Amino acid sequence: MNTKIYERELTALKKANRLRDRKTYSKNILDFASNDYLGFSENKKLFKKAYKKLISQDYYSPKASVLVNGYSSIHKEFEDNLAKINSFESAITVGSGFLANIAMIEGLLRRGDVLLIDSEYHASGNLATKLTQARVIYFNHNDIEHLRELLNQIKAKRIFIAIEGIYSMGGDLANREIFNIANEFEAILIVDEAHSSGVIGDNLLGIFDYYNIKPQSNHIKMGTLGKAYGSYGAYILASSEIITFLQNRAKPIIYSTALSLFDVALGNEALKQIVKKRDKLKDKITKRQNLARDILNIEIKGLILKIEIGDNRKVIKIQNELLKEKFLIGAIRQPTVQSAILRVILRASNSFKNTKKLLLMLR
Ligand SMILES: Cc1ncc(COP(=O)(O)O)c(C=O)c1O
Repeated sequence: MNTKIYERELTALKKANRLRDRKTYSKNILDFASNDYLGFSENKKLFKKAYKKLISQDYYSPKASVLVNGYSSIHKEFEDNLAKINSFESAITVGSGFLANIAMIEGLLRRGDVLLIDSEYHASGNLATKLTQARVIYFNHNDIEHLRELLNQIKAKRIFIAIEGIYSMGGDLANREIFNIANEFEAILIVDEAHSSGVIGDNLLGIFDYYNIKPQSNHIKMGTLGKAYGSYGAYILASSEIITFLQNRAKPIIYSTALSLFDVALGNEALKQIVKKRDKLKDKITKRQNLARDILNIEIKGLILKIEIGDNRKVIKIQNELLKEKFLIGAIRQPTVQSAILRVILRASNSFKNTKKLLLMLR
């Protein structure tokens, strides 16, 4: 087998300081890098509640696709809660956020449709665009003028717009005007809330909640469980018709084993916790946002703090220096971002004191 091509590419990546590595970190490291925004991954109470729920069942693994007999009362309970709390007609759980983006974009778009997708949309959405026969056009990140200009030129059977609630790398919010534009052009709006659900909004439900937008039939919201929810997996919320359609056409739903029962039960506990502890959690989030503003003069809307560095070697150097002080932060490089950034997650479970210490070091 000729693997020279891999060798060459790996050498080039290394030279450009872009070689990715998977590492384990010591127990005493302070995690300011992961997407566990609310610290639920460390919450033993939630874990125990999910375990208790699961152990009372007759079986513990999903066994099959939701369309065979992989669908259980655990999935249904969570989906019903999600739909009710988020004010959507219907919900469906999916294996992961990555699969959810493939499900929505590959499953819903048809030849003759046009998808306008934000240039900073997640890699899973970008991959999904390669699987559709619809026309795909990227609009400049969060640029409503560009989006409008494109929409005015387009002739299509149907128009879809895909955005994120909070952008995963920049940490900025989707422009509210895009919701109005979607209505004006009768477009179906797909909103990836991987980084916004659980973090923003009066009820911590995400961008719809933040902007006080009542979900309508042209809205599709995707949320992940692997971030603020401290679990694994994802869900899609939409009209009953769209959810039924996805269940009949989306390959990641039809041809993949249903989401793990434990992860669903844990997601459900997280959702209940967000509802119950809303004010306390919001207070923790606001305090961290204020700290970023006071120390670094940076306004953040969620818990993602982006610091532009623009030099691959330098971001790694800063990351390593902070690691010596036990602080782990993200050093994000190409192709995830165009130019190197530090990505610092002000997780609610890190103490205020340590958060302050880190921000002072980053000043
Ligand atoms: C914006 C966005 N969408 C989707 C995903 C994929 O979700 P998952 O990790 O659940 O596959 C991620 C990140 O991982 C993300 O940042």
